[in-house]
Formats: sequence, structure tokens, C-alpha cells
Amino acid sequence: MIDAARITENGKVLEVDHNAATLRFHAIWLRDNSPTADTRDPGNGQRLITMANLPLDTVLTAATSDGETVNLGFAPDHSCSFSADWLVENAYDQRPRATVGQLPEKAEAWDADLNTDVPSGSYPSLADDPTARAAWLATIRKYGFAKVTELPIEQGNLFKVVDLFGYVRETNYGRHFEVRTEVNPVNLAFTGLGLQAHTDNPYRDPVPTLQVLSCLENSADGGENMVVDGFACALRLQKEDPRGFELLSKYTARYAYEGSSDVALHSRRPMIDLAPDGVLQGVRFNSRSIAPLIDIPFDDMADYYAAYKRLSDIIDDEAMEVTFKLTPGEAFIVDNTRVLHARKGYSGEGYRWLQGCYADKDGLLSTLRALENSL
Ligand code: FE2
Repeated sequence: MIDAARITENGKVLEVDHNAATLRFHAIWLRDNSPTADTRDPGNGQRLITMANLPLDTVLTAATSDGETVNLGFAPDHSCSFSADWLVENAYDQRPRATVGQLPEKAEAWDADLNTDVPSGSYPSLADDPTARAAWLATIRKYGFAKVTELPIEQGNLFKVVDLFGYVRETNYGRHFEVRTEVNPVNLAFTGLGLQAHTDNPYRDPVPTLQVLSCLENSADGGENMVVDGFACALRLQKEDPRGFELLSKYTARYAYEGSSDVALHSRRPMIDLAPDGVLQGVRFNSRSIAPLIDIPFDDMADYYAAYKRLSDIIDDEAMEVTFKLTPGEAFIVDNTRVLHARKGYSGEGYRWLQGCYADKDGLLSTLRALENSL
């Protein structure tokens, strides 16, 4: 409900009173968001005008409200009505501004305490029950990872996980890749060594935003999987070493992979990626793929390395890690823009075979929102 609506600043601003607050809207913003059929397609909601149709001197000429609806007239010639609810929901006046290091909406930072409650979904119910699927996708939005259990134990079952929300992203490693011991590994991921927690493929831009790893055999000793929340690590660095956090977010790092003659992947991105308003939007961390860091001024390089090492120590701290051993028929998915994954070393006794693939987070979030809208 809106208590009153009035035009101010010679038609350039609309003020509405709502719950003892006054919310201001610019005339050009209102005109741009006009819900009329000649401004937005009623079917798909897409905007039908361009900025060429929006004079900067657009002003309001009339404003009336019955509490539920606000009716507006504009010059140049236009008129439309907004619901009070829509205006309140989309108000930008007095909206709290983001702070540096703020988590994205609906994300929650976590550490080893989450070991007692590892997010997980059973494949048959994820496939059959939209409510269970939405709940599982929401845990990925919240924590950046989740397990899947009770998959059919067969090659390619990781694609069934991707089919729950979207599409595979193919790379030079193929539509999927095998993770098991190889005699002549082209990549350290395919040996029995333990790996430090990392995000995959930081040398791509954009990175593969999701990774699925599915277990087909796991009789080797060790080889547990481990995940670490890159956002939680970045926030801990910000608390313990604010300047270090600033350096890792302010300067671009470089990453590269040229593991075979037909591949030369390079990227240039900060280790801690912040939106312009300071909201955390990504962490890239992979010591195997770091390239010479040449975008940091000489005077800041020593401090930058100190911060890089501090972040690495935080990532290696067991207090940050969630660990689980996959059995055949189990898989996990990570948000590769945020959550680091690792595996403990495993011995030659027995055998460990996982299949991995990449997929896109925007598709997952889209499927989740659409499910939430329909449920
Ligand atoms: Fe990896």
C-alpha cells in the first residue's frame, strides 16, 4: 500500500509515501520500466524500446494513487500504471548499499562445521520430485556444493546429474574426463598424488562455473574428496589481513595452461573477484596453473605474495574443510567460481575411478528460480 504519491523537482522525481518512509523514483527510470505493451512485450517481458526512445528530459506530468496503483502521465507523451507492490519491491531509494566482502544473495559461508550436515540428495527423488530437486539446487546456491547418492553405477551417470538442471560445457578435456591413475599423466589430476584444494581451469575466461565428479570405483586407500569454501577463506583473510584481501582483489593474477601442443589457455583475473560494489563474486585459486604475476607493481609484490601465501594457508587449514569419501554411485557438484575441491592422496592398492564434467551455473540458477516460481 502507498499512502500518497506526488511529483517533485519540476517533474523529474516521483515521491511515494510507504510505511512512514518516502521513496523517490526518477521520471526517466519510471518511463523506462513502464509496463505498457508498447514498452515491454507482454509475452516474454523483453523491452521493446531502446535508449534512443528515452529523452533525458523525460518528466512526469501527472501522478495519482488509490493506494494499490499509481497512475502516471509523462512528457513526451506516455502514460502508465504501476502496482504499489511493484514500486515498493523495486525501490532503489534508501536501499542498503553493499559492503566490501558481502556475500551474494542467498549464499552462506561455511567451514568444517558443515561436516556434520553435508548437503546431499538422492538421485531417484531428485529426478522424480520437483520439490526435492528445488531444495537440492537451493543448497548449491547456498553452499556452492552438494552430493548426489543412489545414481545408477554406470559410465556416463554424471550426465544424469547435469540433466537435473542444465547442460554440459565441453572443453578441450572433452565432454567428460576420466580421473584415474595413468602411467604417463598429462595432468597431475590423473595421478595418485594428493592435490591442494583448488578451483578448476582458472586459465579459462569464463571458468567452467560448475563441476560434477562421479565415482565409479573407489577401492584404493585414501582418495577422499575435500571441499573448501573460497568465500569463507576470502572473508577470513579480510578479517585477519585486510590489506592482503585488498591486494588479492585489487590486482589481477594470471593463469595459464599449455599442457599439450594444441592448447594455450591464458586468463587474467584477480584471485578474489569482487563486483564493483564489493560483493564477492568469485575466487580463483590453483597453484598448479598460476602464471608469472606481472600486473602487480614492484612496491606491492612482496605484500601480494604474503597475502597469497596467507590465503593458501587458510585454504589448507583443516578447520575450513569438509571431507567425504565417495562410493560408487555417488557424485558431487561444486560451484567452481567459489568452492575449491581437492582429494587426499591415494595408494596403488585398489583402484579409484571418477568421471568428471563441467556445466553452467547460470542454467542451474535459472532452473532453480523457475522451479521456485512454479512450486
Ligand atoms: Fe580439480
